[in-house]
Amino acid sequence: MSPFQVTRTLPEDATDAALRVDVLRGLTAQPKTLPPKWFYDAHGSELFDRITELPEYYPTRAEREILLARSGEIAAATGARTLVELGSGSSDKTRHLLDALIGMHTYVPVDVSESALTGAGQALIAERPGLNVHALIADFTDTLTLPDTPGPRLLAFLGGTIGNLLPVERAAFLASVRSLLFPGDALLLGTDLVKDEQVLVRAYDDAAGVTAAFNKNVLAVVNRELGADFEPAAFDHVALWDAENEWIEMRLRSLTAQTVKIPVLDLAVDFAAEEELRTEVSAKFRKEGVRSELAAAGLELTHWWTDTEGRFALSLSTVR
Ligand code: SAH
Ligand code: TRP
Repeated sequence: MSPFQVTRTLPEDATDAALRVDVLRGLTAQPKTLPPKWFYDAHGSELFDRITELPEYYPTRAEREILLARSGEIAAATGARTLVELGSGSSDKTRHLLDALIGMHTYVPVDVSESALTGAGQALIAERPGLNVHALIADFTDTLTLPDTPGPRLLAFLGGTIGNLLPVERAAFLASVRSLLFPGDALLLGTDLVKDEQVLVRAYDDAAGVTAAFNKNVLAVVNRELGADFEPAAFDHVALWDAENEWIEMRLRSLTAQTVKIPVLDLAVDFAAEEELRTEVSAKFRKEGVRSELAAAGLELTHWWTDTEGRFALSLSTVR
């Protein structure tokens, strides 16, 4: 069998159907919203990789620092033979884990972005003879069926992506993650931490405008897939700190009163001048909050590591 396999768990047209439902629901709601997974077409995945290199976007560097320092401990604590990674993207930081996990049998990257999965998977098997890669094109908020590979399993969810789920979605997500794990398996979770507002806002509103382009890319996806006539230049990128919910909120603000047509949905969407469409939240965490959310899902936090500046945390938890 080839060391690189790709399994599509969604039918080809499921993406299209799901996008239609999400766009119809989101753009007829008050306030208007669009769910974040639609940022990541091939161009969106490329823009995200550029975000990770921006001077203002510290989470990737902070998490890499922790992985470099702690991968040996993670390997020793888990003895993992299968590494499953949700929202794996380019799998770039994952290399530090793979370096340390010496009896590794199979790496299972899971992502909605087919282009990111095939690019990352091909690079990994070329670099690492002996490693099996079984990529899953899947939505990690759906019930996943994992390939039958040897345990123990380590399930990694890096990048602070868990913060892109709303609190109720997070609870359901963690419960479904828990149901994928057997005794002896572990969850490695990356969470960005609450910190100075200016530092947070700059990370989501960089000087070069890459995050703005990334945010607006969701409009290009709706244009291409559903024939809509969004004019990205007619919207401003907005990133603000919601101190009550402790999350960064990303929005697109309509510069003028305008009507956007979406023929495939037979829909015309009116935007008032200054009206904002919410595209993404990125929640920031504290240790006790992470511990209690994990506990509510039946997971016990056993390790908590931060970078030297205390900006980002990796936690390891096991099935209780
Ligand atoms: N883990 C990488 C990438 C983070 S960006 C890192 O830390 O740098 C978030 C990734 O999650 C993207 O690759 C995106 O395509 C994927 N993603 C977002 N929503 C998803 C969903 N609902 N199901 C599966 N993948 C998703
Ligand atoms: N998981 C990333 C985060 O919350 C995703 C992200 C980074 C993002 N920058 C963004 C999402 C800008 C939307 C817009 O940090």
